[in-house]
Amino acid sequence: MSNTYYHNKTVLITGGAQGIGLGMAFGFAQAGAYVVITDKDQEAGKQAEQWLQEQSLKAEFILCDISVEADVQALMQQVKEKRQSLDALINNAGLADPFMGPLQNLDMADFDKVLAVNLRGPLLCAKYALPLLQKAGHPAILNISSTRAFMSEPETFAYSASKGGLEALTHSLAVSLTEERVRVNAIAPGWIEVGDWKKQEDKYEPQHTKEDKAQHPVGRVGQPQDIAEAALFLCSDKAGFITGQSLTIDGGMTVKMIYA
Ligand SMILES: NC(=O)c1ccc[n+]([C@@H]2O[C@H](COP(=O)([O-])OP(=O)(O)OC[C@H]3O[C@@H](n4cnc5c(N)ncnc54)[C@H](O)[C@@H]3O)[C@@H](O)[C@H]2O)c1
Repeated sequence: MSNTYYHNKTVLITGGAQGIGLGMAFGFAQAGAYVVITDKDQEAGKQAEQWLQEQSLKAEFILCDISVEADVQALMQQVKEKRQSLDALINNAGLADPFMGPLQNLDMADFDKVLAVNLRGPLLCAKYALPLLQKAGHPAILNISSTRAFMSEPETFAYSASKGGLEALTHSLAVSLTEERVRVNAIAPGWIEVGDWKKQEDKYEPQHTKEDKAQHPVGRVGQPQDIAEAALFLCSDKAGFITGQSLTIDGGMTVKMIYA
């Protein structure tokens, strides 16, 4: 990739105020992009915006709950007024805690809430970002799913289903947006440590046991930067022949065979 590819490009990252989203915001802004981070957590968003701007990076925060259609419409209107077009939409926002408790006690409202954010949210964002993406030279959508789309721990019904749906939505969008020339791909992260990338009061010191590291063939837990590197490639014109694909980034955890 030419190291000027992202100069003057606009990249919108949902859930960009913390965690993997903030790691990607940092990576794209360092590559020269104008990064719009959107999040439903205003405090986290303001902190992230300030931290990025203090490093002379081009970034701004816009408040939005991606499960609310009117919020998403208003978000895209603001992006249009400020930037006119959008080069990449990264659907990263998600309710990241997968555990729900036993099926017998499942409250369907909790299930619906996870689907509304993790699956319906990315579709809403794609729908309302489309007119802006069409104005870009090499537009791309990147969906952040999870290795939990392909394998599960017990009692993670909504999270697993939402991420499986997001994988399917990725190829569905890819084959639907050909006229519009929008490439659509996914990254399925494994265990990514976000303790250092939380808002101030939620930061924690990451601690990983020998066993935590050993279950990864590469010998460590992942970092937001690992996802950012792949996102930079997948959203660039260097990935121009890649669409409808999902890239697992998990340090090899899901290919390691375990005999229980
Ligand atoms: N961290 C991991 O190990 C891991 C692994 C696989 C997949 N993922 C996925 O990566 C993405 C980011 O995860 P993370 O670990 O950085 O989570 P995080 O909780 O640290 O950050 C998620 C951000 O999304 C925001 N958000 C949540 N709901 C929103 C909504 N309705 N509208 C707008 N913003 C909203 C939150 O406020 C938060 O700032 C999620 O989609 C998650 O499912 C994470």
